[in-house]
Amino acid sequence: MLSGKRIVLGVTGGIAAYKAVFLLREYQKAGAEVRVTMTPSATRFVGLETFASLSGHDVAVEIFPEEAGADEWTRHIYWGEWADLFVIAPCTGNTLAKIANGISDNMLTATVLAARCPILICPTMDGEMYDSPSVERNLKQVQDFGYHVLEPESGFLASGIEGKGRLPEFDSILETSSEIIGSIEAPLTGKKVVVTAGPTREHIDPVRFISNPSSGKMGLAMAQAAQRLGADVTLIHGPVSIPLPEDMHKIAITSADDLFKAIQRFAEADMIVMAAAVSDFTPVEVHDHKVKKGNGESKIELTNTVDILSWLGERKPDHQTLVGFAMETENLLENAHQKLKKKNADWIIANYLSEKASGFESDTNTVHLLNTSGDHTFSGTKSEVAEQALNVIVRAV
Ligand code: CTP
Repeated sequence: MLSGKRIVLGVTGGIAAYKAVFLLREYQKAGAEVRVTMTPSATRFVGLETFASLSGHDVAVEIFPEEAGADEWTRHIYWGEWADLFVIAPCTGNTLAKIANGISDNMLTATVLAARCPILICPTMDGEMYDSPSVERNLKQVQDFGYHVLEPESGFLASGIEGKGRLPEFDSILETSSEIIGSIEAPLTGKKVVVTAGPTREHIDPVRFISNPSSGKMGLAMAQAAQRLGADVTLIHGPVSIPLPEDMHKIAITSADDLFKAIQRFAEADMIVMAAAVSDFTPVEVHDHKVKKGNGESKIELTNTVDILSWLGERKPDHQTLVGFAMETENLLENAHQKLKKKNADWIIANYLSEKASGFESDTNTVHLLNTSGDHTFSGTKSEVAEQALNVIVRAV
């Protein structure tokens, strides 16, 4: 159940913080991807480098770190959306009290407010503290919020006194995590999603064609994001060299016409994402044999391909969400809004071809997701922006 799942592990400043290092390992052994957020006092028990190197990712501590990039201080928002489960283990009485009162003065507590996933709190403290009326009240409060609480176990505590307050055994934390994740239904469960990706090739003759440098990365990222949200995804892709996942239905096409024919079978899908860079033109004549060069000028007569997104927009069923892309070199938002209207799409994901670290072959992207009521901007890896954009789209359905 934990395989492929994403866990944000919140570590607070109690002696059991050292056990969180092993807990992280246990989640990884179970196949989960883990990112760690620590309270500043937790870093006095375990160096954040330990968690950073084991998780392979930066550890979030302060909301406003001294040398933060623009995207770092909003990380709690992204992590809160990224995670399938947010586990706070160990959770001190102090952090528990903050959570119970909505205080968000560090990255961990801010992520609690931003989290869209279930939250599992493992309170860990000395027995006397655990029995205090305020802890009792705060535990009740967080459960009323809908957060899960795994009670501590009894035994010898750091104070040398025997009592209730120990971090539960890892098996117990993992089992509870699995149960919580297993009980959530992903928002696109039972939905059919079709994503198109990559370029098309319009052949002139067997060895020459008109195409574009689309890598298919953004389309694939959208398809994987939909799959993570539980959808039954079909990826219709042009000729791409990126590795494609085995566990996804795939249809390989070459030309715009192939793509048009392939997508007609899915016109009733719950969501169609047209991320493919479809050629707007195709040669009127396709030669069966390699064209020999003449002595002077050569001309290729071109005709428009079918605008597939418009075709889909014209017959869009009520239950369908239609998402188009717009790659622009000028007047991005204006052109994208025009495409939204003209093609009757529900959403357009637009980006500047000219933006640094953006566009066709790059691994990163800055995109503007827009519909008739406004727009959002996302930056990051193509996987991150695909996921953020899809989350907004799914929430609006
Ligand atoms: N598209 C399509 N069929 C085409 C051309 C484009 O379905 N023959 C889709 C693309 O997959 C994308 C959207 O239309 O989702 C916008 O593509 P884009 O190339 O930005 O715009 P065009 O409609 O081709 O307009 P222009 O080239 O004039 O900007």
